[in-house]
Amino acid sequence: EGVIAIDRSENVLHLNLAAARLLETDREAAIGRSVADVTGVREVREILTRALGEAREITLETKLYTGAGKRKIEMRASPLRDSDGRLAGAVLVFNDVTELRRLEAVRRDFVANVSHELKTPVTAIRGLVETLIDDAEMPADRKLDFLRRIRDQSLRLSSLITDLLTVSRVESGEWAPELERLDLREIAQRSMRYLRPFGEAKGLEMGLDVPDVPVLAWADADAMRQIVDNLLDNAVKYTPLGGRIRVRVRADGAFGTVEVEDTGVGIGPKYHGRIFERFYRVDKARSRELGGTGLGLAIVKHLVQAQAGAVSVESDIGKGSLFRVRMPAAPTAGEEPPIPTPLDDKGA
Ligand SMILES: Nc1ncnc2c1ncn2[C@@H]1O[C@H](COP(=O)(O)OP(=O)(O)OP(=O)(O)O)[C@@H](O)[C@H]1O
Ligand SMILES: [Mg+2]
Repeated sequence: EGVIAIDRSENVLHLNLAAARLLETDREAAIGRSVADVTGVREVREILTRALGEAREITLETKLYTGAGKRKIEMRASPLRDSDGRLAGAVLVFNDVTELRRLEAVRRDFVANVSHELKTPVTAIRGLVETLIDDAEMPADRKLDFLRRIRDQSLRLSSLITDLLTVSRVESGEWAPELERLDLREIAQRSMRYLRPFGEAKGLEMGLDVPDVPVLAWADADAMRQIVDNLLDNAVKYTPLGGRIRVRVRADGAFGTVEVEDTGVGIGPKYHGRIFERFYRVDKARSRELGGTGLGLAIVKHLVQAQAGAVSVESDIGKGSLFRVRMPAAPTAGEEPPIPTPLDDKGA
């Protein structure tokens, strides 16, 4: 919180450290000098002049360009009075609300996104049910088709809600991983078993490379399954007919690594950071058509980080994608388990 006080002739009486930093001025040298000389920031001079001139409190929010980039600053200026109640100057208090405003925007977007994603299947279900009610003479096969579509939309709704609950539990810190000695080969094999039929239905070649010896990570089994399922699900979804998918597991010094590689549509480098955000999809229309809501990678990132692992991506448009998850290796017998310190998420 920055504070600057001026007297009636607009000379600086007091300037605290935070204010000096924000206004990029020297604190010692500022005292006694005119506020106009001390700072080039027009908003600061104006609000002080107004508080003096109008003898009342004035608040406003403004953007300042500082050494630290564009900051949103909330300013509150009030007149100062001496012991006789006469106007003696003005004091300005300001707060950097950049981060606060950013969080507010994230929350607003989140609520808007959730509402939209929930509304789509609900609207579809309603329409289908209403048609069934109104059309008593509908042929049996058409009726069955409607019922199937209702079931699919309900499934989508429930998986969406499960994903949302996962994101919020992990993000709020309510969920804590149950770390254990885990063979990453088994995780990969299980995900492969589960998703292979979907890939093969699209004519994809699905391959799994695992070493002959266990790759032991210090990780949570459920979380690791969800992570690899999500990555493999994406690989299958975003790889067109006839492509290749490879899942690789290997011991990598202090880490156990799982890689999911595909020959699919790929992701331009400028999106590599964004795809891990909630609801972010590179091609909204295509993802939605494929039933995606953009939560998969947000879940992956949060689950990986909660276990002190790291996830990264290598990809370019038309060149396929490689997602790599690195987990701390399990301690060998008798050794202390690794202390979970977050790794650097290079490229993520
Ligand atoms: N293997 C991949 N190849 C190409 N693009 C990908 C791949 N994985 C992710 N993406 C891109 O990143 C976006 C975010 O992925 P994410 O898994 O979070 O969402 P989704 O798959 O669209 O939906 P959900 O996982 O919630 O069903 C996708 O919409 C897609 O644009
Ligand atoms: Mg996904």
